[in-house]
Amino acid sequence: MKKKIFLSGTGGMLGEAFYEVFKKNYELKCTDIDVNEDWLEYLDFCDSDKYKLLVEKFSPNYLFHIGAFTDLEFCEKNETETFKTNTDSVKTAVKISNKLNIPLLYISTAGIFDGLKEFYDEEDLPKPMGVYAISKYEAEKFVMQNCKKFLICRAGWMMGGGPKKDKKFVQKILKQIKEGKKELFIVDDKFGTPTYTYDFAKNTEALIDTKNYGLYNMACQGNTSRYEVTEEILKILNLNNSIKLTKVNSDYFSKTFFAKRPNSENLLNKKLNDKGLNLMRPWRETLKEYLDNSYSSYL
Ligand SMILES: NC(=O)c1ccc[n+]([C@@H]2O[C@H](COP(=O)([O-])OP(=O)(O)OC[C@H]3O[C@@H](n4cnc5c(N)ncnc54)[C@H](OP(=O)(O)O)[C@@H]3O)[C@@H](O)[C@H]2O)c1
Repeated sequence: MKKKIFLSGTGGMLGEAFYEVFKKNYELKCTDIDVNEDWLEYLDFCDSDKYKLLVEKFSPNYLFHIGAFTDLEFCEKNETETFKTNTDSVKTAVKISNKLNIPLLYISTAGIFDGLKEFYDEEDLPKPMGVYAISKYEAEKFVMQNCKKFLICRAGWMMGGGPKKDKKFVQKILKQIKEGKKELFIVDDKFGTPTYTYDFAKNTEALIDTKNYGLYNMACQGNTSRYEVTEEILKILNLNNSIKLTKVNSDYFSKTFFAKRPNSENLLNKKLNDKGLNLMRPWRETLKEYLDNSYSSYL
């Protein structure tokens, strides 16, 4: 008989990959407030009574708490709602996991660091700077201090979901290309580690299978900059001779992207490497796969 996983907040970028990867070997119950797929059921995970009720009814072997508010500017402007969604709901998840004695997966972020170091491994102390980062780190700490069995996986710059679900950098660039822009202004003072949702889901599966619980950085191999990612997108799409790239610094976008962001979000997958469980591929390889699979008929 297949083991069962209850997933909450699965209607977004990462949820799509989790559904596709885990459905092969597990029986899933995927939920979200945005029921945008026929494999999703409605659950507002801020409704703690309903959350408990639905999970207990499904009686899973694992609880995956995936969803959050991920728009940093929205979070800055909506602090109370952000803490409710990104922190308090995770506390509920911890209580459910403890009560049912099942492992909890919580997704954290490279954004919880202050960006003053070049690289961050699992032993570095987070110093979150904005509302989103604080809300995510508070939840991370609560899981670590209170959950009996947990897996915390930290992602870097997420890539996945395609035109329908990707709310992040790759989609923002692709949208401008589709609109016919002939010059793109890209910051060259932000560094990080792209993280392909499918690699992330597969590496999580490997950890679950081997019962290696705890805290893990989980980003693709190789650190880079926003500018270099854009260069690579244009190269893959064969547009490097027809679209001009202009380097700017973050001040250029300070009105639109006013939330504080670390200059460096470079994650090192130290613990995955130490355990021989690092399945994350080089970011260039996964970017190509992502564009080939999700954007071939977009432009
Ligand atoms: N995106 C990144 O770059 C990134 C990087 C590192 C870590 N992470 C973490 O990875 C996880 C997945 O993020 P993602 O990129 O997949 O984000 P996403 O695409 O925005 O998906 C999150 C999903 O959660 C849903 N949600 C929000 N509030 C909810 C609630 N109260 N009840 C149920 N569902 C709710 C959202 O619905 P709505 O769309 O209607 O709000 C959305 O469908 C998050 O924990 C995030 O913090 C993301």
